[in-house]
Amino acid sequence: MFEVLPQLSPDPILGLSASFREDTNPAKIDLGVGVYKDEQGKTPIMSSVAKAQNILLERETTKTYITPQGHQGFIDGMLKLLLGENSKVMMADRVAAVMAPGGCGSLRILSELLARCGDNLKCWVSDPTWANHIPLIGSAGLEIKTYPYFDKEAAGINFDAMMETLKQTGKGDIVLLHGCCHNPTGADLTNAQWDEILVLAQERGFLPFIDVAYLGFGDGLEEDAYGIRLLAENLPEVIIAASCSKNFGLYRERTGLAAIVTNDSATRKIAQGQIQSVARAIYSMPPSWGGALVDIILADTALKNEWMTEVNEMRNRMSSLRTMLVDKLTENGADKDFSFLNTQKGMFSYLCITPEQVREIRAKHAVYFVDSSRINVAGINQNNVDTLAKALISVL
Ligand code: LMR
Repeated sequence: MFEVLPQLSPDPILGLSASFREDTNPAKIDLGVGVYKDEQGKTPIMSSVAKAQNILLERETTKTYITPQGHQGFIDGMLKLLLGENSKVMMADRVAAVMAPGGCGSLRILSELLARCGDNLKCWVSDPTWANHIPLIGSAGLEIKTYPYFDKEAAGINFDAMMETLKQTGKGDIVLLHGCCHNPTGADLTNAQWDEILVLAQERGFLPFIDVAYLGFGDGLEEDAYGIRLLAENLPEVIIAASCSKNFGLYRERTGLAAIVTNDSATRKIAQGQIQSVARAIYSMPPSWGGALVDIILADTALKNEWMTEVNEMRNRMSSLRTMLVDKLTENGADKDFSFLNTQKGMFSYLCITPEQVREIRAKHAVYFVDSSRINVAGINQNNVDTLAKALISVL
């Protein structure tokens, strides 16, 4: 049966992790997959999460099925984080939501839901976007179109070109936006640009599909929610895929939220039933553990404060690592001005070098990052920054 299938090339991100593991060079540096790392290069369980696990071990008395939507405490807590404590759309009973297996699970079930809403729907994604967006959304049957986003030459967002292209959209089109910490470029929309996107969405009638996987890693938990809240509170419909992989460090627990802001309460009920039926037809119901942990953390003031402190520490550390790399590059006499890295946000940055240069660094210096020139900033530390800067300069 399966011999008819073609051999696929490795996944552009996960394949890198496999190559890194196989590399025997003791000086190898992993800036590939988006996983937070501390100064020792480790990804420890967050302290707030570890405490919540202890509570959950005591509290969980059964492994029977959870409800199709998942833990309601998780859903309510996440919606408050995303939409704000006093969200008008929540108070108006306009938000349908389910726990989902990670950000990928949320993106996929929301795409499947969209595919139920009409034939040949188009989803506009940024150029570039996260490598897995296209398979996740495209496999659900949506047609993928791209809008210009990042200009490698200028090392910044080409907002005019983005808006020009989005003017071609209309009702029934879906526009995927990164809530914050754009993956892969780290180049984020300003609040004023979000304001312009709102006006365009009102004029054109497109449906924003917001992917938010790094809330808190940009400017802060509240600050990073600006675009999400603006669109959710001012448009009739918005959909949101949120991940707890990074800001709760729950990668392997596959914990995410799929939310649909609907026109009114009656439509919310329809959307709630439909999204649950989409999930039922794929994996039945979400895994429990990660969502139960987030529920415990967000419901407990002390644990929530501890978690927020940890998120702030991760954000500040990643921001200082950018500065450290830029300084090292200058110190080592780089020809190119890399100061744009300091304006990028979150876990990723685009080095704005060519795929050939990326592959040369990998081959000669065992520094692993995605061909697009995306680096995981959290993989930089005091011990490897010098090697990294020199390796980078050697290919310029
Ligand atoms: C990444 O972009 O590296 C992460 O979101 C992990 C993944 O699944 O690709």
